[in-house]
Amino acid sequence: MGRIAYVNGRYVPHDRAQVHIEDRGYQFADGVYEVIAVHKGMLVDADPHLDRLDRSLRELRIDQPMSRRALMAVIRELLRRNGIRQGIVYMQVTRGVARRDHPFPKVSVPALVMTASRKPPPDLSVLETGKKAVTVPDIRWGRCDIKTVGLLPNVLAKQHARTSGAYEAWMVDAQGNVTEGSSTNAWIVTREGQLVTRPTGNEILSGITRASVMDLVKREGIDFVERPFTAEEAKQAREAFITSATSYVLPIVQIDDAVIGNGKPGTIARTLLQAYLAHMEGAGASR
Ligand code: PDD
Repeated sequence: MGRIAYVNGRYVPHDRAQVHIEDRGYQFADGVYEVIAVHKGMLVDADPHLDRLDRSLRELRIDQPMSRRALMAVIRELLRRNGIRQGIVYMQVTRGVARRDHPFPKVSVPALVMTASRKPPPDLSVLETGKKAVTVPDIRWGRCDIKTVGLLPNVLAKQHARTSGAYEAWMVDAQGNVTEGSSTNAWIVTREGQLVTRPTGNEILSGITRASVMDLVKREGIDFVERPFTAEEAKQAREAFITSATSYVLPIVQIDDAVIGNGKPGTIARTLLQAYLAHMEGAGASR
């Protein structure tokens, strides 16, 4: 069965799915996106992801392309047509097509494209090994809370991670504090055993996985605080991990040259991954 994409009202073969050259997403990165995980045929945390999509659109004053109900129907139909029970749905909304000019066009119809990809289920062997992160300066703009398709600094950071043999890049602001990963939120467990993650604000994306994990942290009664932490503190931490819709809860065992804890994933990351897997199949799941 060939892959099918959704483009502005039509389901089309993936290799022939196209948008106009003057789509403002293409020319100005004038658009937003969401990635929702599909696990055992269910969408994970669909409502919070679509709430965040609405917020991103509102912040950029792009009209909603369709109602929540209609959007959910397209998502389900796309998954059905692609036969996907394990993977991700990617959706992107741009301000639409208009003759190239910086100000918002007087008339434009938001453009919606969607793809669905197959992806294997969570690889639990990562709980034995963990992954490496490297630090990079955070060179992004002042509204990282909006999930825009303008991801060039994130792309450069991730590429730096890859060429350094690392899985993720942790971005560091001018004060030396870690903002977030290039496509994940960052967490540490301090030497004293307290779980720490940076508070939401304009400097980071308010991760949906972050929010779900935070609920699990409260339920498990884990000692926790939201505050900025420096790259140096992270390197001396007992544990480190990242969260995202596609990485779930993923232990980090090395940051730059510093080995975290004993070089193995820690107990809090393990506990939270197990709890998150249960959440994916339980409270977070919707058809
Ligand atoms: N990235 N921070 C950034 C910069 C991100 O791009 C993402 C998600 C996150 C985690 O957010 P969530 O838990 O809602 O997935 C944090 C997606 C997965 C991506 O760009 O592919």
